[in-house]
Amino acid sequence: MTGRILGTGAYVPARIVENQELAKLVDTNDAWIRERTGIARRHVAEEETTSYMAAQAAREALCQAEISSEEVDLILVATSTPDTIFPCVACEVQKAIKAANSVGFDLNAACSGFLLAYQTAQAYIQAGLYKTILVIGSDSMSHVIDWTDRGTCILFGDGAGAVILRAEEGGLCFHAAHSDGAGGGVLTGRSRHRKDWEEPKHMEETFLHMDGQRVFKFAVRSVPEIVEELLKQAQMKQEEIDYFFLHQANKRIIEAAAKRIGAEISRFPMNLQEYGNTSAASIPILLDEWNRKGLLKRGNKLILAGFGAGLSWAGSLLEW
Ligand code: COA
Repeated sequence: MTGRILGTGAYVPARIVENQELAKLVDTNDAWIRERTGIARRHVAEEETTSYMAAQAAREALCQAEISSEEVDLILVATSTPDTIFPCVACEVQKAIKAANSVGFDLNAACSGFLLAYQTAQAYIQAGLYKTILVIGSDSMSHVIDWTDRGTCILFGDGAGAVILRAEEGGLCFHAAHSDGAGGGVLTGRSRHRKDWEEPKHMEETFLHMDGQRVFKFAVRSVPEIVEELLKQAQMKQEEIDYFFLHQANKRIIEAAAKRIGAEISRFPMNLQEYGNTSAASIPILLDEWNRKGLLKRGNKLILAGFGAGLSWAGSLLEW
């Protein structure tokens, strides 16, 4: 049994922040951001929360899959920016979409989160535990960004993407995933917790810290490696893959990965120019965009690959 994608959905906040607007906050400019990252604008949550965006994306996916929320057995939400520590986002989504027969939990693997949630869902399906699974990536990166740090605030955006998986016989399904905790210091989101009993005060904010060049090198190395691992497992050549849906962090990372893989850049869909890096949401938002534009045909062979904090990186090879 494998989980086939029956429907996709996405949600991004209404508020758009252009590169020029960031130039009013930090010492940067549109040309620099476009040249170094490919990003032109991003959507930033004002009223929207991580669970609201997740539920909106879930509704769209359910609608496209033409199934009722009561048919969902499991809700998995990949996020590193939940609204609250608990209840988890998955339970908030369950409430919002009235998926009364489901169980839900969150999973945090930062920007690799969607892939790891997708693989977890496939494992549940293979084990015969659940038949219909809603997998969501949703993040409000604007909440954890240091808006005075020009090295990071230009990169990220907010949003959510969702897929519905339904157990079916057959279908390609190969997975690979890795972590390198020892290398995790190059990309962190730390919060300084208050010590209530000593000195009551509000908890301080969480800020993202990053060594951009080292993360860049890690991404450019890890993505081609995981693609090679998947192709080896599936005994396929890169030429047999129709599209490579990579985590949308930086255009230059995707171009460098494409070059190393030896595949033409036209097979690497991109939308980071519109959304920036939406962390766990980037791959399902991109999938939804291509799906709704009718660019994916049944039987297409896809590789999805993500990388991010942890360090972690993961990929799946599947048939649309
Ligand atoms: N605007 C203008 N100048 C900037 C800038 C900005 N927003 N951010 C940094 N700079 C400056 C630096 O201060 C540096 O100046 P200096 O030469 O005077 O010291 C110069 O630009 C070059 O900085 P550098 O860090 O070498 O740039 P870069 O080409 O590596 O690009 C990133 C920086 C962050 C765009 C790039 O490293 C990157 O994308 N890394 C991966 C990040 C990522 O994807 N993270 C998420 C992974 S899930």
